[in-house]
Amino acid sequence: MTAASDPFAGEGWLDRVHCEDALQGLRRIPDGSIDLLIADPPYGLGKDYGNDSDKLDTVEYLRWTEQWIDAALPKLKANGSLYIFLTWRYSPEIFVMLKQRMTMINEIVWDRRVPSMGGSTRRYSSVHDTIGFFARAKDYFFDLDAIRIPYDEQTKKARSRSIFIGAKWLEMGYNPKDVWSVSRLHREHKERADHPTQKPLEIVERMIKASCPPGGVVLDPFMGSGTTAVAARRCGRRFVGFELNPDYCELIRQRLVALEPASQQDEQVTG
Ligand SMILES: C[S@@+](CC[C@H](N)C(=O)[O-])C[C@H]1O[C@@H](n2cnc3c(N)ncnc32)[C@H](O)[C@@H]1O
Repeated sequence: MTAASDPFAGEGWLDRVHCEDALQGLRRIPDGSIDLLIADPPYGLGKDYGNDSDKLDTVEYLRWTEQWIDAALPKLKANGSLYIFLTWRYSPEIFVMLKQRMTMINEIVWDRRVPSMGGSTRRYSSVHDTIGFFARAKDYFFDLDAIRIPYDEQTKKARSRSIFIGAKWLEMGYNPKDVWSVSRLHREHKERADHPTQKPLEIVERMIKASCPPGGVVLDPFMGSGTTAVAARRCGRRFVGFELNPDYCELIRQRLVALEPASQQDEQVTG
């Protein structure tokens, strides 16, 4: 490959989703270049992503997880952080892995707002995903004001006593808690693309606004339908990522094209 055709030459690796195995591609990303890592790996539950990536047994799955974690973490800047989507089945083991390498800041419960219709009969129905939030160092970047949740007028009025006047939290909104109640993307959802485990933009955009400075770089090793790339672009951040399945790479290209004039988007998925 010549320097001119190598997408990793210069800044060519940025603002692209590379259609290849993350374990290979990560090697070519410069160490210390990433502000925020958002990882939504296969959960180890046997989903069909058009490849065998979610068909590993427990031992292989955890070994593979450790491999990509060790390949990805050096890419983070010193004040960078990581969000990882997981299921309760493997989050205990993977959180321990990450706690040996980073500081755990939060466990976030994503309540997928699954409607009550039957469900498991020999256990409680699982309706949440587990998200780990980890930082490399104590001075990790975190912009709370960017993700405050505004109060409605009625609530503001109810807190109109003089002691509350001018309170920042009342004017700008409150800080999100660690339970995020956001509907999963059901088939008819307007955001829905043709991917079995697409995540809602609302969730990924909150992560980006809080944990990546404007103009900073977000890395997602498992892009799927490209939610992280789309969210980064919508939030004025740069992105880089990987995806194994060429059909999903095409989906990502289409989602990016839909955001902006095609002339600016042609080269953003390489394979
Ligand atoms: C849970 S999905 C990601 C969904 C994504 N967050 C979204 O919102 O669409 C995981 C994706 O990782 C991809 N994948 C699995 N192993 C991979 C690897 N080694 N390198 C790159 N992509 C991989 C799968 O094909 C799948 O699309």
